[in-house]
Amino acid sequence: MEENISLEHLKLDHTQGLYDLTEANREYLRERLPWLDQIKSSSDTRKFIESTITEYSSSGAQNFAVLYQGLICGVVGFHELNQQHKIGSIGYWLAQNYSGNGIITTATRKLLEIGFSKFQLNKIEIRCAEPNIKSRAVPERLGFTYEATLRDCEWLYSQYVDHAIYSMLASEYRSLIIK
Ligand SMILES: CC(C)(COP(=O)(O)OP(=O)(O)OC[C@H]1O[C@@H](n2cnc3c(N)ncnc32)[C@H](O)[C@@H]1OP(=O)(O)O)[C@@H](O)C(=O)NCCC(=O)NCCS
Repeated sequence: MEENISLEHLKLDHTQGLYDLTEANREYLRERLPWLDQIKSSSDTRKFIESTITEYSSSGAQNFAVLYQGLICGVVGFHELNQQHKIGSIGYWLAQNYSGNGIITTATRKLLEIGFSKFQLNKIEIRCAEPNIKSRAVPERLGFTYEATLRDCEWLYSQYVDHAIYSMLASEYRSLIIK
């Protein structure tokens, strides 16, 4: 399973594949993610990829295509990477027909290795909408600590949602991988 999953920095070559995946999962993703209405055509996906490429060199934020057997099935990344305080915040989404197989859990595990080893982060957070049980299960499965729920963190089309905050520290990660 794990050998079928890889991460690839988002690049312009992913534009059409990522747009097609977004389009095919629009209604499903819209229940949970706030940006679907901004993606109206592949040129919007291209603009998003261009902006993430610019961020690689400025803030260092990183977004990756998740590939399953070489095909793009979702996105994971550090949408925030604070170099001063060594904190990264992970986000992810997966096409509906790939869900239920541990793909995002594995992809997030790979991102933890990048964050703690390559970027030398001290803390990695995952912020999930409070009612998003599938999303919350990812940090819980990976051994993150639940910290708190913050109120009205995100405007999701017609309502505010609270965020459940999970985190892992570098020291905890090292003791987990040594076990
Ligand atoms: C959040 C989201 C990525 C989770 O997807 P997911 O498929 O549940 O997560 P994974 O790919 O890690 O798979 C976990 C599932 O596979 C199962 N699984 C099978 N093999 C597994 C393995 N080797 N390792 C871990 N889990 C495995 C788990 O039991 C779990 O299934 P369950 O929910 O029925 O218990 C997905 O629901 C999604 O994209 N939602 C819309 C966007 C969104 O909410 N993004 C997050 C915003 S905060």
